[in-house]
Amino acid sequence: MNSLFRCVAAVLALYAAAPALAQDLDDAKDNIAGPYVPTPGVIVDEMLKLAGIRGEDVVYDLGSGDGRLVIEAAKRFGARGVGVELQTELVELARTGAKREGVADRVKFVQGDLFEADIKDASVVMLYLLPRFTTRLVPKLRAELRPGARIVSHDYPLAPWPPDKELSMDVPEKEMISGTAWTRLFYYVVPARVQGVWELSLPKTLAGGPLTLDIAQEPDSLSGTAKDAKEVLPLRDLAVRGVSVRFGLLYRGRLIALEGKVDGQTMAGEARGRDVHEPWTARYRGPIAR
Ligand SMILES: C[S@@+](CC[C@H](N)C(=O)[O-])C[C@H]1O[C@@H](n2cnc3c(N)ncnc32)[C@H](O)[C@@H]1O
Repeated sequence: MNSLFRCVAAVLALYAAAPALAQDLDDAKDNIAGPYVPTPGVIVDEMLKLAGIRGEDVVYDLGSGDGRLVIEAAKRFGARGVGVELQTELVELARTGAKREGVADRVKFVQGDLFEADIKDASVVMLYLLPRFTTRLVPKLRAELRPGARIVSHDYPLAPWPPDKELSMDVPEKEMISGTAWTRLFYYVVPARVQGVWELSLPKTLAGGPLTLDIAQEPDSLSGTAKDAKEVLPLRDLAVRGVSVRFGLLYRGRLIALEGKVDGQTMAGEARGRDVHEPWTARYRGPIAR
């Protein structure tokens, strides 16, 4: 048996055995988010590139298999990393790999359920899971990761969350694994949480008093209004990317463009209009009354 064949046979054996084994252990939970199928090296490279890994990153792989994504991020970019993996043998394999590659002091592999993992320290999350489970992870990722954290998902999008970027490529090695060489990568940046009621203070040249912003934020939609005592106006082209926010407002016959940063319960930035270039702020006031 040549070594490539031995390697494929080993992967297929794990592929076949893993779900059954884990299923026995954890049947009621329906948490087996995919069999063990390692990401080919060329795709590992693309995932790290797409995430824009830097030395200060903390890279999590949820369902980390043999740990290759976390190990490569540490080895090539000096990042720190955590792999969360259900299967004990794979956790051991990853720990051995980390020692062999000289990065054991920067990475950690934890045996556990990715749906219960504490992920708040991650600045980057890597995923290669079946689509039903990537979708199930969306609320957790958006609630627990800090705004600006990046996510790269191999082959399956985090529907219904629209990706910030998408790449596709042909990788012949994938044909043995998934029956097609076509590979897709989906990239997301966790947006700041802006859902709720905010009190918007505009420059005095633009408004006599504060306005109330009502913002509705879902993974696949973002909309809002601004109101004063007299009128309710739509927020035009409202967008949040990481901690950056922007929107337009047609207020008292003047078009104002607002850009700024969200920092927890405050927003602040610059308002621009004809002859105006001044600061604005907003303070979070609470949830939208239903
Ligand atoms: C397709 S493999 C990907 C491995 C690795 N991330 C890579 O890209 O090379 C999916 C991995 O997720 C693991 N897994 C599945 N459900 C899990 C869960 N609930 N918690 C932790 N790991 C899980 C599997 O055991 C498997 O190793």
